[in-house]
Formats: sequence, C-alpha cells, structure tokens
Amino acid sequence: MGKKVIGVLVGSLRKDSYSKRIASYVSSVAPDDLEMRAIDIGGLPVYNQDDDENPSTAWVRLRDELRQVDGFLFVTPEHNRSVPAALKNALDGGSRPYGQSVWNAKPGAIISVSPGRLGGFGANHHLRQVLSFLNVYVLQQPEAYFGDVVASLDDEGNVVDESTKRHLGEFMDSFATWVRRFSS
Ligand SMILES: Cc1cc2nc3c(=O)[nH]c(=O)nc-3n(C[C@H](O)[C@H](O)[C@H](O)COP(=O)(O)O)c2cc1C
Repeated sequence: MGKKVIGVLVGSLRKDSYSKRIASYVSSVAPDDLEMRAIDIGGLPVYNQDDDENPSTAWVRLRDELRQVDGFLFVTPEHNRSVPAALKNALDGGSRPYGQSVWNAKPGAIISVSPGRLGGFGANHHLRQVLSFLNVYVLQQPEAYFGDVVASLDDEGNVVDESTKRHLGEFMDSFATWVRRFSS
C-alpha cells in the first residue's frame, strides 16, 4: 500500500507558536506510511461567500492543496475556549462552494495545545463539532489535550519531555491505523 498524505493544519499563526512545535514533532515521528504535509492557512483572506464564483488565488491554492491529501491533522491552540479564527476561516472556505467541500469523507485527528492546564479542551471539542458536520472521520481515541505545553519543551522549542514524546508517538500510531481504515 502506498503512503497516505496527511495535511497538517496549525491553528496558530504565531512565529514561535507552541502548536507549530508540536505539529513539527508529531510530523517527525509519524509512521512511515504517512507523509505529513504542512498546509499554510496564514495568508488567506477572510472567507466571503460573494467570492465563491471568482475566488482569490489564495483560496484556489488552499482548496487544491487540501483536495490532494488523504486526511487531516489539526494542531491548534484555544482562543477564548474555541478554535482560533484563522482555523475556522480555513474550515469555512474549504467547505465552499456549496457541494464542493474539500473536507468530505476523509479521516482526521485533533491535537489541542495550551500553556494552561485544560489543554485546549474547548477548542478541541468545538473543532470536533465542526468536523462532524463537515463529514471528517475524526479519531475518537486517544484524545490529545496538551496542557502545560511549555514544560514539555526546551528553550529552543524542542519536545524534550519523555512522557509527552511517548503520548504523541502513541497518538500518531493510532492515527495511522485510523487513516488506513478510513481513507479510500
Ligand atoms: C485571543 C486569545 C485568546 C486565548 N484564549 C485562550 C483560551 O481560551 N484557553 C487557553 O488555554 N489559552 C488561551 N489563550 C492563550 C494561548 O493558549 C497561548 O497564547 C498559546 O501560546 C497560543 O498558542 P501558540 O503558542 O500555538 O501560538 C489565548 C490567547 C489569545 C491570543
């Protein structure tokens, strides 16, 4: 069986983002049958339904990139107990024009990240709700809420905590099994 390509979408645009560090780490430890491909959602205009008939090149590019992947990994911080606007924007724009959603019927998984104790639980579950409507087959278990993320990183942002490494490795193994089961 060939490799499955996974689009990695990070909910933070911040240069030194902890979520970007976690996304980079899990991409580096993904099983060999997954090819992890970073998808940039930073330069997108705010989605406007009026533009569906004549979309900007940024939206055309994103939709093309997402159509080419076999599944999605979302690594996101929490903004005010929900998903950051940049990620919701990508989800909304990728779901249109009506009937041409790029998300439909593909496997996905969520890792939420926070310097706080709750590990982005609110963002994780708001994202689950949206992905359920978009018909993304979201990995149910194991869940991944990474709280106190700063304690797992060194000064350069490398993941150094052994327990965090083990959990993220197990999560990626489960996701690879999930992708094999649900991608066409
Ligand atoms: C607008 C805003 C809202 C935030 N709301 C939450 C929140 O609801 N829960 C939380 O744990 N952290 C919250 N934070 C703190 C973020 O978790 C923190 O800034 C984190 O470092 C962002 O992720 P990043 O490092 O990947 O950029 C918020 C930060 C911002 C800027």
